[in-house]
Amino acid sequence: MKKALIIIGSPRKKGSTAVLAAEAKRGLREQGVETETVFLNDLKIRGCQACYWCKKNDVSECAVTDDMQHLHRLMQECDGMIVASPIYFAGVTAQTKAWLDRLFPYIGLNLSPKMPPGKKVSFIFTQNQPDARLFEIPVRTFMQMIGLTGLSVKDHMLACDLDAGIKPPVEEKVEFMENAYRIGKDLIN
Ligand SMILES: Cc1cc2nc3c(=O)[nH]c(=O)nc-3n(C[C@H](O)[C@H](O)[C@H](O)COP(=O)(O)O)c2cc1C
Repeated sequence: MKKALIIIGSPRKKGSTAVLAAEAKRGLREQGVETETVFLNDLKIRGCQACYWCKKNDVSECAVTDDMQHLHRLMQECDGMIVASPIYFAGVTAQTKAWLDRLFPYIGLNLSPKMPPGKKVSFIFTQNQPDARLFEIPVRTFMQMIGLTGLSVKDHMLACDLDAGIKPPVEEKVEFMENAYRIGKDLIN
């Protein structure tokens, strides 16, 4: 059975990002893909300590012992990933950025990718601002950096004009819900 890892970078368990990630999960499950969902906010993930242990030893492991060790294992074992984050101050959340920095062991000094090949990743971003173009550059840069690890970027979506509890709920935005479902359905195929 294929496995997908869903990584959620929002601190809100019932926020718009989590709702869309759940739709992606539904799409994955309907394709017979086993899923595991992780809320980064529940984990203790320190920022990269820049010790270069992974580089000096030329390994795709990290010397920092925290919950990232568990996530590294899940990433190694899965066939694909969905990464879902709200936009905070024009970028991904701090939780998501800490996770990104800790992918350093998967990038060689010459920028060679070290992630086992064949894993796909798709992204779900949410933001409050209605204009989808506003944070296009940081979003693209984030996805490009993930690509340096050897993960193959399959798809992404940006759901705008969302502020859970204040604006109309994301469940009412059929286009976003369908898009998230499709992102899950198509991830591993
Ligand atoms: C600290 C903070 C910073 C934010 N910065 C931005 C921003 O720069 N641009 C934007 O469009 N929305 C911003 N937002 C709004 C969130 O991105 C948006 O409401 C998102 O859908 C929240 O996701 P959630 O419901 O999963 O928590 C910010 C929200 C917070 C709490």
